[in-house]
Amino acid sequence: QVIDASDLWLLPGVIDSHVHFRDPGLTHKGDIESESKAALAGGVTSFIDMPNTIPPTTSIAALEEKRKTASEKAWTNFGFFLGATPDNLNELIQADNQRFAGIKIYYGSTTGNMMVNKEVVQKLMTSSNHLLVVHAEDDAVIQRNMASYREQFGEELPFSYHPMIRSVEACYKATSALVEMAMRHRSRLHIAHVSTANELALFDGSKPLAEKQITAETCVPYLWFDQRDYDRLGARLKSNPAIKSENDRKALLQALASNKIDTIATDHAPHLLDEKQGSYFNVPSGIPSVQYALPVMLELVRNGQVSIEKVLEKMCYAPATLFRIHRRGYIRKGFYADMVLVDPNNPWTISDETTLSKCRWSPFAGTQLHARITHTFVNGKIKFENGAVHDQRNGQALLFNVK
Ligand code: DOR
Ligand code: ZN
Ligand code: ZN
Repeated sequence: QVIDASDLWLLPGVIDSHVHFRDPGLTHKGDIESESKAALAGGVTSFIDMPNTIPPTTSIAALEEKRKTASEKAWTNFGFFLGATPDNLNELIQADNQRFAGIKIYYGSTTGNMMVNKEVVQKLMTSSNHLLVVHAEDDAVIQRNMASYREQFGEELPFSYHPMIRSVEACYKATSALVEMAMRHRSRLHIAHVSTANELALFDGSKPLAEKQITAETCVPYLWFDQRDYDRLGARLKSNPAIKSENDRKALLQALASNKIDTIATDHAPHLLDEKQGSYFNVPSGIPSVQYALPVMLELVRNGQVSIEKVLEKMCYAPATLFRIHRRGYIRKGFYADMVLVDPNNPWTISDETTLSKCRWSPFAGTQLHARITHTFVNGKIKFENGAVHDQRNGQALLFNVK
């Protein structure tokens, strides 16, 4: 087959190292098949899925179940995190780190109620050499801020302010505590979804990624949306941590340039639109984004807000290095071709109808973009072409399939 790629860009496939594909147990919101198709359409060729499913991925047995589902259903390469609980630490510590990407710790509460305390983190830091990926947001601070406003003013914090206020201080408190602990114990820590300017002071941009002990992720929604978007999108935009101010967003974009932020993921976290209706307090947090992450970042490139080099470094190369994907690779002489062809100037508008995620809505609906994904290759085979996913899945590769 000959592809006319004149005027197209050939890019490496995106490795999305933070997604919630909801499989098993929450498959009315999304499943590995539907969400990996959406990923494929967005130029994502590998994903690493979080453990807050039902049952949670907190044992090797649950991990193996997920791997089995993915090997039957995923349209892209895949990997998984194991989740920490107070009761599974010995199993986690002994687990073979060739089988999973890292240990996810919920140091803060969100979908799935998997929150753990400082003692659990400490135990993992002192007795395991796995990569620890942490959701850092101190819930007690959030509750206290909300309560103190209520007490002072006799009403709930106004909508367009509370997502920020409830979480700016909470993020800093949790992230700084975790960074301090990791330094003390010399453990390998990756802070997930950094969302504020003030946390950036905790990270060092001067070392190459491979030499860093503490690394940081941000996610596409924090680079695209800011406080002003709550007026339009309301609780649909609710996520943990919350999307913050324009100032925070700009600081995060700069932190890509200064290397204080190491990776960009999506935190793709679909909920049904029905579930997202209602007051900010009652709706679940999380927003879908996997299908539009690369085109949205390429729009920021076009606007001059970030360079194409940084986008590819943070979305493709850095996750491969950080999660040792090239070293765990299933091939010794070179790599399978995970690639994307992009038409950089073919304007289109995102809508719920263009959205392949099972939830069928997108916070980006109505946004006009210029870059279109025309082809996605997974392991050398075309899987997505001119707006359509191929009929044949043809056996996807396991990202961490060394055994
Ligand atoms: O907003 C969020 N949604 N944050 C998380 O950490 C989890 C995610 C989800 O699973 O819905
Ligand atoms: Zn999280
Ligand atoms: Zn997440």
